[in-house]
Amino acid sequence: MTTILLLVGSARPDSLNVRLSRVIESHLPEGVTASHFDIFSLPFYVQEGPDSPTPAPVEELRTKLRDADGVFITTPEYNYSLPGVVKNAIDWASRPMTPRHAFVGKPMNAAVATGSATNGIRSLVDLKRIWAACAGAPVTTFDFVLQQAFDKFVTDEEGRETLVEPARATMHFAVANLLRSIELDAGRNVATNWDAYVANLG
Ligand SMILES: Cc1cc2nc3c(=O)[nH]c(=O)nc-3n(C[C@H](O)[C@H](O)[C@H](O)COP(=O)(O)O)c2cc1C
Repeated sequence: MTTILLLVGSARPDSLNVRLSRVIESHLPEGVTASHFDIFSLPFYVQEGPDSPTPAPVEELRTKLRDADGVFITTPEYNYSLPGVVKNAIDWASRPMTPRHAFVGKPMNAAVATGSATNGIRSLVDLKRIWAACAGAPVTTFDFVLQQAFDKFVTDEEGRETLVEPARATMHFAVANLLRSIELDAGRNVATNWDAYVANLG
């Protein structure tokens, strides 16, 4: 069984990104299951010493990241980048760095749902850039921005929420690319480099 951790960068009632995450979950192929973590349960990150107690939600996030085979993040774009709550979750997850933080080599794909007809891509690009810079393994092809998203959700014959075409095909492709990254162990070299880097820290 493959496990995908679903993270969402909005807690807005009727959030487009919450809806998109649910659509992704309900369309996961057989043999793939979802796990969940609410990043809004995290406190704001404050750098403290190694002996400081770790808040329970942070421990939970780190454990769920380690246990997942891959991560799928759906998030808004705020002011041409990713929302602070998503960055905050990454900051928590990226420490402690040694021997490996919670998402070293972890495949991740993402989508941005926005009401805008022109924006969204910068949030996705920044998110993937940061994930890669922290030695995660983001899926680089292709970018999934659900623009004019208020018009893109429909109900299928079985009564479940889905997306209109071609957005639905793009969603399947985004998930398939994440699953392929997991299957190919795309983060292997990144993790090996990380181990060498940590060994050199002395
Ligand atoms: C502070 C703020 C900044 C925003 N900046 C952008 C932006 O840069 N690009 C964009 O596409 N939408 C922007 N929006 C609109 C959001 O995309 C829109 O509110 C969207 O519905 C949020 O996602 P959600 O429905 O999942 O909450 C912004 C909204 C807020 C509140």
